[in-house]
Amino acid sequence: MPLLQLRDVTKAYGGIIAVNGASFDVAEGEITALIGPNGAGKTTAFDTISGVVVPDSGAITFDGEDITGLMSHVITKHGLGRTFQITRELSDMTVLENMVVSTISNDLGSLLRSRIAADERDRAMELLAFVGIERLADEPAKSLSYGQRKLLEFAAVLMTEPRLILLDEPAGGVNPALLERIMDRIEEINRKGVSFLIVEHNMDVVMRLSHSVVVMAHGQVILQDTPQVVREDHRVLDAYLGDV
Ligand SMILES: Nc1ncnc2c1ncn2[C@@H]1O[C@H](COP(=O)(O)OP(=O)(O)OP(=O)(O)O)[C@@H](O)[C@H]1O
Ligand SMILES: [Mg+2]
Repeated sequence: MPLLQLRDVTKAYGGIIAVNGASFDVAEGEITALIGPNGAGKTTAFDTISGVVVPDSGAITFDGEDITGLMSHVITKHGLGRTFQITRELSDMTVLENMVVSTISNDLGSLLRSRIAADERDRAMELLAFVGIERLADEPAKSLSYGQRKLLEFAAVLMTEPRLILLDEPAGGVNPALLERIMDRIEEINRKGVSFLIVEHNMDVVMRLSHSVVVMAHGQVILQDTPQVVREDHRVLDAYLGDV
């Protein structure tokens, strides 16, 4: 049984059918890439999985349980983590505070500014060291470079110890040295048995990391196969060329 399963998931915004009857699987222990041209519906698919939006129809199961339409904090408790969007409000906090806030609901975040439990601080510092930004722990998050924010988001999602991690464009706009570090860390976490679903436009990253690739275009899944097969399939190239 796949760890995550989407069956005929549809989500429309007014007249735009952002996700249109999409079905795909994420196998336990694997890294699955979700690719497709701009506007294909990848982020909206993430939004339906992580409880940011409720799909209009279809079903999403995680570890055999129906999670369709559950609220995002409930989905997080099931063991599904998504890269944490760093808002302007959170950016006023330090890097370390952002790490701790990511484990609880946003409204409670301000209560924590004054006091962070020692064990949480230790775990946060360990994860910041894991992604290589522990020296920035006491800096305001807003002072981080774009690439460092990507590392912070990744470290923050690890705080909840998810079984499946959804990353939306982890390599986007990141310099080659940081990109290498991000890919290394994804592989290291994956070796510990954590599964990933990764939206990514950088095909080198997709080819290196993924065991399976889902291709979306116009809200629909046009195929799911190994990276080798997907690379050779003319429908994938057609989908991208059709976009320009
Ligand atoms: N909140 C929203 N309100 C209205 N339309 C939306 C909303 N979110 C997405 N859309 C539309 O749904 C379609 C799919 O968008 P989505 O962001 O899911 O694509 P994507 O595959 O993530 O694209 P990209 O690669 O550019 O990030 C687009 O036409 C987009 O304009
Ligand atoms: Mg997107």
